[in-house]
Amino acid sequence: MKQICVIGVGYVGIVTGACFADLGNKVIALDVNQERIENLNKGIMPIYEPGLDELVKRNMQAGRLSFTTDYAEAVEGSEFAFIAVGTPSGVNGEADLQYVAAAAKSIAQNMTEPLIIINKSTVPIGTGDWVADIVKREQKKPVEFSVVSCPEFLREGSALSDFLHPHRTVIGSFDRDAANKVAQLHLPLRAPIVITDLRTAEMIKYASNAFLAAKISFINEIADICEAYGADVKEVAAGMGYDARIGHHFLDAGIGWGGSCFPKDVLALAYMAEAKGLDPRMLNTTLDINYDRRKAVVSRTAELLGGSFKGKTIGLLGLAFKPNTDDMRDAPAIDIAQELTASGASVRGYDPVAMDVARKILPAVEMFENPYAMAKGCDALIVVTEWNEFKQLDLAKVKILLKSPVIFDGRNIYDTATMKAMGFTYRAIGR
Ligand code: NAD
Ligand code: UGA
Repeated sequence: MKQICVIGVGYVGIVTGACFADLGNKVIALDVNQERIENLNKGIMPIYEPGLDELVKRNMQAGRLSFTTDYAEAVEGSEFAFIAVGTPSGVNGEADLQYVAAAAKSIAQNMTEPLIIINKSTVPIGTGDWVADIVKREQKKPVEFSVVSCPEFLREGSALSDFLHPHRTVIGSFDRDAANKVAQLHLPLRAPIVITDLRTAEMIKYASNAFLAAKISFINEIADICEAYGADVKEVAAGMGYDARIGHHFLDAGIGWGGSCFPKDVLALAYMAEAKGLDPRMLNTTLDINYDRRKAVVSRTAELLGGSFKGKTIGLLGLAFKPNTDDMRDAPAIDIAQELTASGASVRGYDPVAMDVARKILPAVEMFENPYAMAKGCDALIVVTEWNEFKQLDLAKVKILLKSPVIFDGRNIYDTATMKAMGFTYRAIGR
């Protein structure tokens, strides 16, 4: 049984902690947010993630997983310390490393035995070396340590399964022995292991996220061309995807990407490139195409309503940036709701799990307890998040409840012919 501490109990930290505990390790997970730790000790999860509650409770009961705010308690006796704190966008798009710096400092000040410090947060190229400098500087007495990069590739909404069945484990370090020990820890995941240097591992993470974001922006550009010429982007994507060099994944055209990662990571990579005098045209275009999607949803819905939102009520089906999460960070729903409100519309919202989070961000949006209550009296609905429950809505009932039967399907979840046959004024993406 290895002892591991995980620093930062957010989306990545809690999943990392719970999964490593489930794999038979002893895990102490630490956060500076006292309320979060108190809640976890009472069995209240900080985030919504399918399967997490059960996994955390089972491992707490088995004595393999515990939570603390005390760095000395977390670091003492641990062989590995995972840093999984946030790296949000700074004012110019750069990654803000203040939380990583604070975590490195606190680890250094509390370590008394050799430790492998593993960076799981997504950090700019060179951060591993910088963390090593912080640790060296802040140690009370010299204790052996290594810094290893082991970026995380999980997606919210399917985080447990992604963590436990990764496509690959990337490990970057100049210390081969430390890299091998980290590889050993990941062996039960049975994924290919890529061992490389620190900077390359850090870059693999950014390049992967940027590529996926670009793939989505690409299909969204194709969607607009499909729409202009009468082709169907869903079928185009399916037809393209059979080519193994292209693949079926991440070709869903729609409102575009949001969330806590693609937006900040594409921005941070572009910032890194520009800082070295490069011109990251592809990254900048990927961003531009994406953020234009949100404006296009609003202008295309306006067209369905005769050009103006004045006095109109619009209902948003889904608020989270993707299904199966309550994460509202850079969710397209935020920009869409604000743009609608600025254009004179009254905006309503419904989301199966994200409404509590959304209320704080979108106070002007009236929240409803189910999609039917929201639809009653609306001039139009916009599908913002493709939650499964929206795919099985009683659309005949929705049509009766709406003031005018207008649906803008921003995630292509309904069938065009069916919607038209039912008498909806229906517009989707790229079809
Ligand atoms: P998050 O904001 O959900 O959680 C971060 C946690 O760190 C918070 O609970 C915060 O209180 C805590 N924290 C901040 N400073 C701390 C400190 N000094 N010591 C201890 N705890 C501290 O963040 P997240 O979404 O889990 O992302 C973490 C990192 O992982 C980011 O770099 C992100 O880019 C990367 N990542 C995220 C995902 C994802 O799906 N969310 C996936 C892969 C990688
Ligand atoms: C993404 C990556 O997929 C993970 O590999 C990575 O670990 C993570 O970022 C991260 O670094 O934090 P996540 O943001 O949780 O994961 O969710 P995704 O499933 O990738 O979706 C991101 C956004 O893209 C969502 O807004 C989603 O609606 C959108 N998307 C996704 C599309 O518009 N079309 C698609 O085909 C796929």
